[in-house]
Amino acid sequence: MEIAYNKKELSALLKNRENIGLVPTMGALHVGHVSLIEESVRRKLFTVASIFVNPTQFNNASDFEKYPIDTEADLEKLKKAGCDLVFLPKKEELYLKGKGQEKYIHDFGKLDSTIEGEYRPGHFVGVGQVVHILFECIKPSVAFFGQKDFQQLQVIKLLNQKINAGIDVVGMPTIRESDGLAMSSRNRRLNPEQREAASLIFKALSFAKAKHGDLTSGELKEAVTQLFDTERLLELEYFEIINPYDFEPINGRIQEPAHAVIAAFAGEVRLIDNYHLI
Ligand code: PAJ
Repeated sequence: MEIAYNKKELSALLKNRENIGLVPTMGALHVGHVSLIEESVRRKLFTVASIFVNPTQFNNASDFEKYPIDTEADLEKLKKAGCDLVFLPKKEELYLKGKGQEKYIHDFGKLDSTIEGEYRPGHFVGVGQVVHILFECIKPSVAFFGQKDFQQLQVIKLLNQKINAGIDVVGMPTIRESDGLAMSSRNRRLNPEQREAASLIFKALSFAKAKHGDLTSGELKEAVTQLFDTERLLELEYFEIINPYDFEPINGRIQEPAHAVIAAFAGEVRLIDNYHLI
């Protein structure tokens, strides 16, 4: 497995390469990330992972500062999974000083202003910015993203269309812990009590899946709010039933297609998840 620390090394190592599979990450890798790498390897692509904690997508300074970093262990996991090349750039490599960033700043319309976009202003603009830069310097044929970040996946698909990149953007299933908690680098920041309490997030989604035929969207939201009221270690930020294509909230009776999305805080740590209903 090769490592490129800057764009020059990267382009030398990618020279004349075709059929590149890209897995962008922010490191602190877990089995969810590894499943994306493994899919790229399974498809016999030249597999490139990037590790970069992207400052422009953090709307909360402390979340950025406390983002877990574990590069040595990450490199081990990537090697074991069969990754061919890791891109480990510094900020100055991706965001060139004095050079215009305008071309990487995209308007994702409603996707950037609703649900996650509403609670994390500017987040998706930052995600689009860094992923556009990565697409440009790696030129993958296929790029893998997790459905765990459901709205992000739609943002990337839209980015791909907007910049005419012609990349096959693949959405991969969410990998969960045994109690259903979606794997996330941020889970490392939970203390044991918070970690145990955090299983309520998936319980709420499973409840929605089981009851969407019997309850209206409002009733489901009410029931989930009550569930969280009984757990003092978690604070529900939002729970919504949406149409997964236009992200419009569904009110009243829940009709196909419907998707549940949720965000909750355990102390300072913000966790998100989502689940297909019908
Ligand atoms: P990060 O949170 O490190 O996630 C990297 C990729 O792994 C994303 O596509 C994410 O959806 C996927 N992923 C995370 N948890 C997962 C899980 N439990 N199961 C399956 N896939 C999972 O998402 C980002 O980084 C950044 O926003 C990035 C796209 C790299 C841009 O900076």
